[in-house]
Amino acid sequence: MSNQIEHVLEETRFFEPPAAFASQAAIGTREEYDRLYKQSIDDPETFWGNVASELHWFKKWDRVRNAENRPFYKWFEGGKTNLSYNCVDRHLDSARKNKAAIIWEGEPGDQVILTYQELHQRVCLAANGLKKLGVKKGDRVAIYMPMIPELAIAMLACARIGAIHSIIFGGFSANAIVDRVQDADCTTIITADGGWRRGSVVDLKVAVDEAAPKCPTVKNVLVVKRTNTAVTMAEGRDHWWHEVMASVDANCPAEPLDAEDPLYILYTSGSTGKPKGILHSTGGYMVGTYVTSKYIFDLREEDTYWCTADIGWVTGHSYIVYGILANGATTVMYEGAPNQPGPDRFWQIVDKYKVNIFYTAPTAIRAFAKWGDQHPAKYDLSSLRLLGTVGEPINPEAWMWYHRNIGRERCPIVDTWWQTETGAIMITTLPGVMSAKPGSAGLPFFGVKPAIVSEEGEDVDAGHSGLLVVKEPWPSMLRTLYGDDARYKEVYWSKFEKQGWYLTGDGAFCDKNGYYMIIGRLDDVINVSGHRLGTMEIESALVSSPLVAEAAVVGFPHDLKGQGICAFVSVPTGMEVTEADKEKLREHVAHEIGAIAKPDQIRFTDSLPKTRSGKIMRRLLRDIAAGNETKQDTTTLEDFGILAKLREDAES
Ligand code: WTA
Repeated sequence: MSNQIEHVLEETRFFEPPAAFASQAAIGTREEYDRLYKQSIDDPETFWGNVASELHWFKKWDRVRNAENRPFYKWFEGGKTNLSYNCVDRHLDSARKNKAAIIWEGEPGDQVILTYQELHQRVCLAANGLKKLGVKKGDRVAIYMPMIPELAIAMLACARIGAIHSIIFGGFSANAIVDRVQDADCTTIITADGGWRRGSVVDLKVAVDEAAPKCPTVKNVLVVKRTNTAVTMAEGRDHWWHEVMASVDANCPAEPLDAEDPLYILYTSGSTGKPKGILHSTGGYMVGTYVTSKYIFDLREEDTYWCTADIGWVTGHSYIVYGILANGATTVMYEGAPNQPGPDRFWQIVDKYKVNIFYTAPTAIRAFAKWGDQHPAKYDLSSLRLLGTVGEPINPEAWMWYHRNIGRERCPIVDTWWQTETGAIMITTLPGVMSAKPGSAGLPFFGVKPAIVSEEGEDVDAGHSGLLVVKEPWPSMLRTLYGDDARYKEVYWSKFEKQGWYLTGDGAFCDKNGYYMIIGRLDDVINVSGHRLGTMEIESALVSSPLVAEAAVVGFPHDLKGQGICAFVSVPTGMEVTEADKEKLREHVAHEIGAIAKPDQIRFTDSLPKTRSGKIMRRLLRDIAAGNETKQDTTTLEDFGILAKLREDAES
């Protein structure tokens, strides 16, 4: 950690916003940012009231912010709105009605373009289809789909009728579906016969067939035909999407919902084995994703915007669908892998659709850099005017590669720090106003009051690392953990209960210009390719195998993924294990959670090093995992034992 800090502290390069960009930007001067930021902190009622007024409300709110029952904040209380209405219907009475809302490209190269008007028709049908299956306001609907237009349509259909969607990333396994569907008592699952990924079909329906019988609350499964893969349809439970949609009315007015009515649940990893169901509500999330999209991506009417995330993660929720469509922009959606059929696929898409704004993750950038400069070089990328990154700290080398090879030294880069919990971007550089510093997220967005504090809650000086907290609530914040208010309070608010600060779980520091640099998670969460995975989740998956007595999982630095997964595994006494068992265990984890959680390294050992009080010495394991990265699995048990012994001696 300290190396990283020193490294970035040495970073003195600043990249000014290009004049041509700044002169046309939505926020074009530092004075304007300073004025609005000050207002957003000193008088949040006025600031957020003004932003919310740009959107459609069936009934205006009575009160912008209600902090009476901390930490259960309410925003726009008394207001009635609908996010689906704001993303779709709001654009129908202007020229936008014939503008592309979604430009979709499938991995095999097929294409669908939906105008706002067409999107409206499709969303209305889907909403009526859900109603026909008995889905009502407040019901939970699980969505386990490939990146196809019907995914966005399903989300907007749920939002239209006030059903709460819970999207489960298509790379997760049947067991992960069971956990999530059971936790939220979902009544319906929306899926597809399959999706395309790296030239093969991902059998989503097969996973749902395995999961659904273990979820007694699930009454209906709605299946989109995408790949024409043969699937079994359970009589009475399973319905083809196209058949249901053909039998319903085309008109479905958006339901006026309370600003605080829940919008969605999205499960994310935390420090314990059980994923947390982050709950977002309607009004605040709408306002937050709308205004961040507007100013940070500097959306203009003519822009084509592309975020490469999967909608299974929060980035896709906020910045492929909700925030972008709420602005009436054109959003590009791509189904498949970045290197299918070749490593130039993304640049081909940028060139083909003349993408103006491109938002991706550092892990992808590192992969592009590794694949070689010649791939982007073949394409005309001159349409690009703004680039973004999200999900993990970006190393300055990757930043420079992005700047040179994709931005061609013309485009500002916004490094956006936020979380599933925050709903919207919290820290970044506004592209027309602030200089970017490679590796540093930047300054707080409007309404965000971050700070770096010590364990005791004291402010930490510039250049020193500490805990990143947020001192004031903001509209798009999570409202609770689904069904578990106590855990919500405990995880985010108990550490600085007296002060009422939100604990992000990240370590960070500030430079002398007030720029925030995120170091990484401080809890037992590792960030693999920008995706959060709990070490405890992987450990419980491992110990459910008969080959494992005890397991400890730690992250280690990984060139492409940011962090890799290393599992230390002790085997039951007397059991002989072989190299082949490592692969078995990797497959076991993939089956329990999903391929994304497969350990990169597995190290068998007789026992795990523990403190006298029985706590696994994770820091030591992290050192071993990191230090022996190049030797891979060759660490001998003897070394391991000696190190453990040394550390124990040092501690006593
Ligand atoms: C990390 C993704 C550095 C951070 C939107 C955070 C980042 C976690 C950045 C949330 C960034 C996200 N720079 N680190 N620009 N963006 N992170 O919930 O550790 O999947 O707490 O949300 O990713 O991950 P999540």
